[in-house]
Amino acid sequence: MCGIMGYIGPRDAAKVVLGGLECLEYRGYDSAGIALAEGRKIGISKCVGSVANLKAQLAKNALSGKMGMGHTRWATHGGVTKENAHPHVDPDGKVVLIHNGIVENFHELGEEFAKKGVRFASETDTEVAAFLISSLYQNDPLLAIRKACARLRGSFAFVILFTDIDDRYYCVRKGPPLILGAADGEAFCASDAAALLPYTRNLLFLEDEEIAELSAEGIALYGFDGTPKEVHTKTVDWDASMTSKGMYPHFMLKEIEEQGNVLRQTLTKRIGGPEGRAIDLEEEFPFSREDVARFRRIHFVACGTSCHAAMVAGRLADKFTGLDVRVETASEYRSGSVICDDQTLAVFVSQSGETADTLAAARQARAKGARCLAVTNVVNSSLAREVGSVLELCAGPEIGVAATKTFMGQLAALTLLVLWIGKKKGNLDREKELRLTEEFARLPLKLENVIAQGETLRKMAEGCKDAFGFLFIGRGASYAIALEGALKLKEISYVHAEAHAAGEMKHGPIAILDVHLPVVAVVPKDDLYEKTLSNIQEARARNAPIIAIASEGDEDIFRFSDDCFFVPRTENELTPILTVVPLQLFAYHLASLLGREIDRPRNLAKSVTVE
Ligand code: M6R
Repeated sequence: MCGIMGYIGPRDAAKVVLGGLECLEYRGYDSAGIALAEGRKIGISKCVGSVANLKAQLAKNALSGKMGMGHTRWATHGGVTKENAHPHVDPDGKVVLIHNGIVENFHELGEEFAKKGVRFASETDTEVAAFLISSLYQNDPLLAIRKACARLRGSFAFVILFTDIDDRYYCVRKGPPLILGAADGEAFCASDAAALLPYTRNLLFLEDEEIAELSAEGIALYGFDGTPKEVHTKTVDWDASMTSKGMYPHFMLKEIEEQGNVLRQTLTKRIGGPEGRAIDLEEEFPFSREDVARFRRIHFVACGTSCHAAMVAGRLADKFTGLDVRVETASEYRSGSVICDDQTLAVFVSQSGETADTLAAARQARAKGARCLAVTNVVNSSLAREVGSVLELCAGPEIGVAATKTFMGQLAALTLLVLWIGKKKGNLDREKELRLTEEFARLPLKLENVIAQGETLRKMAEGCKDAFGFLFIGRGASYAIALEGALKLKEISYVHAEAHAAGEMKHGPIAILDVHLPVVAVVPKDDLYEKTLSNIQEARARNAPIIAIASEGDEDIFRFSDDCFFVPRTENELTPILTVVPLQLFAYHLASLLGREIDRPRNLAKSVTVE
């Protein structure tokens, strides 16, 4: 949940680390801190708030060094204070540590140390971990780290400096991601590949229970048992320009506008094949025709926005797979007694591939014998490695905390996945396949057409910037899009928004409607159109202003709404790909009008790597 960056080499370590932290700030922005080693003298600077605050502090009291590490925090243990900000130095002053994750037995360890008279300066689990390593350190850093790891429970990515060692630092991974990079005479580490792209694209994705020693000579790798391991780097095809805002005021807007290309990239390699204009997942889909014939169930499991994409996939799967379909949030899936066995295809959807609940759910499903697939934007993520088989989103790095273009990648990839299974099961005839693939080819342009109408959506948002809340409704896949629209709005504008299946309104939510509560209805011209229209009329009868997201050419909707936004007509199965875009832009403009921190909304972090 936090962002970590480390460096050793000839450059100014402060500059490298601060640059990395800026890139990683989406992972947490409660506090920031840096430690820089100038020979054996380690200088530390910490502050509450953003990396900008840290930079300002360093401008007054500069620190320098050729080795350093920094941290942006999303608070878990201990409040948002300077004392709790990382890096932490152990009470004996031998070890400096930054940490992402949670040490679950830190109370137990803390009490044990307190009995011995140790006094901690912070309320964090990290300082306890630093002391544990320090207390085990007798000139062999690797041994001390290994012994400490054997006593620590929970999840942790550590970067560790020893105050008597000035030519190397250490990284440890058990859970949260740590990515390493080495180039001529320098070695980096970060929580996300994006922070390393300005320096190298040859990366080493640290595995669970590995320890790395980073020096000007490069990277040495060890298992938790001390066994040396071979260093295998992978070349990523992302580049540094993908992680910069360019001319855009916010990453979110840039990422919304990239969605046409995300669609193109997701579709290009999966539509074509020997038959032409055919859905072709042959290379990526890891299951044979016999496997598919054996499947009885398909489960889609995810959190947040990814779960809304999973819901859309679930509706399609009802129609095309003939399987018993279940869509569940990962936290519920893992804590229930879901029937899941070797006849279950379990699909885990996660932009980051690091979401703790989704990972835990995947582990559980695997243990029950399910056949698993990860749908993720990060092919080397923990989820991808846990599950083994990956369907990639092809969205490129997403920095805005509010997911937009990765949702688009998820919608496209999951739609193809479900249609592919439908095809394997004989439930998708060639005529329908041709209609869908032809329409898929037209979709990026249609989507860009919607984006081009951003100003209309800005005006729409302006018209309701004083509303005290919003109610979103939709049916079928449009219900999932209503949920996503409401989530986007509350995440970045902090305005209350809730979403309901349109048919459920009269069972309770309708009570809150009045002239002050706009209803946003996702009402494309599909099989469910007329029923949703009835629900819109019910809301209108209670004086609620109606904003409709409708299909082009729908003249009737004017009579039932106060404001309409039209998306181009498309095949019913593909409608969510278009209807979500105006909702993203509506949320963006409303948040912008309210002066919110759009890319870094309060209380949130992009990857939720704690349970
Ligand atoms: O990385 P994941 O897709 O697993 O993340 C799941 C949710 O945390 C994420 O979608 C969250 O809801 C976003 N902030 C949505 O904008």
